[in-house]
Amino acid sequence: MPKSQIINGDCTTQVKTLSSPIDLTFFDPPFNQNKHYKQHDDNLPDADYWAWMTTVCKSIHDMTRDGGAIYFMQREKNVGKVLQALEDASWTFQNLIIWKKLTSAVPSNKRFGKHYQVIVFATKGKPRLFNKLRIDPPLPANYKHKRENGMYATDIWDDIRELTSGYFAGDEAIRNEDGTRLHKQQAPIGLLLRIILSSSQVGDVVLDPFAGTGTTCVVANQLQRATIGIELDPNNVACIQERLNKLRPSDDIMRYYQDYRFTKNLAEIWGASADEETEMSEQTDELLDLPLFRQSNRD
Ligand SMILES: C[S@@+](CC[C@H](N)C(=O)[O-])C[C@H]1O[C@@H](n2cnc3c(N)ncnc32)[C@H](O)[C@@H]1O
Repeated sequence: MPKSQIINGDCTTQVKTLSSPIDLTFFDPPFNQNKHYKQHDDNLPDADYWAWMTTVCKSIHDMTRDGGAIYFMQREKNVGKVLQALEDASWTFQNLIIWKKLTSAVPSNKRFGKHYQVIVFATKGKPRLFNKLRIDPPLPANYKHKRENGMYATDIWDDIRELTSGYFAGDEAIRNEDGTRLHKQQAPIGLLLRIILSSSQVGDVVLDPFAGTGTTCVVANQLQRATIGIELDPNNVACIQERLNKLRPSDDIMRYYQDYRFTKNLAEIWGASADEETEMSEQTDELLDLPLFRQSNRD
């Protein structure tokens, strides 16, 4: 099993001390919108915040293997600044991913309601690898026929449910004893699964410099990638360690295997064991034998 290294500290300095070259980074910093963090001031002057973002992106670039990738998540209104920070840190742009939320939009009286977050995918020079995933999201209402072979994932991700605030976040959200959320910015397992499967292979090193509850580490670890998480708040570090030590059913990535079943070489990309692969292909065979699939094959 590849190693996980969890560092309690400030990524601004810690990234520079890492010993292994990085293959992939998920970059999900505090958004500087005056949210409450125990150890971090989320209300910095705008220029200071973006200078800090650029500095950390540069350090990660220095530590990344040629062709390695970064996925930088932010609010849509800051997309111009994200692109600038990545360019100033020498990253090469690949995609602007729209992560469309599945619950209600944030309403506004002065503009359209906001219904997505942006994730900028960039690489250090030319990408060293990119796994073209095939997915099988629900059919749009105007489609008559079921897809026979899924579809390639595009830059619009509208099939990954966010962990909303409150009760509707479901089992995946980590809660304190009184039922409140431990961390309101916890990213969903499904989001990290898409990123790590797309831009890494078994044995790679995946970094999360703002690890929070450790979603990246939990997914990377199950996919047989080594992982480094850096997090300022010791309570979050304890949460990550607990999450890694004992896998919760809601963190188990195998429940998503079927969603990617049409992907070429899926078992190899996933790092699935021979037993897991057999079990999953049996389930796929059963699924393809359902009346809906048989019907669409005849049409
Ligand atoms: C948006 S949250 C990340 C949530 C994470 N993606 C998850 O799935 O839980 C940002 C995290 O960065 C941490 N943080 C803030 N400043 C930091 C710094 N300088 N170095 C490391 N972590 C920091 C915060 O404590 C917070 O947990």
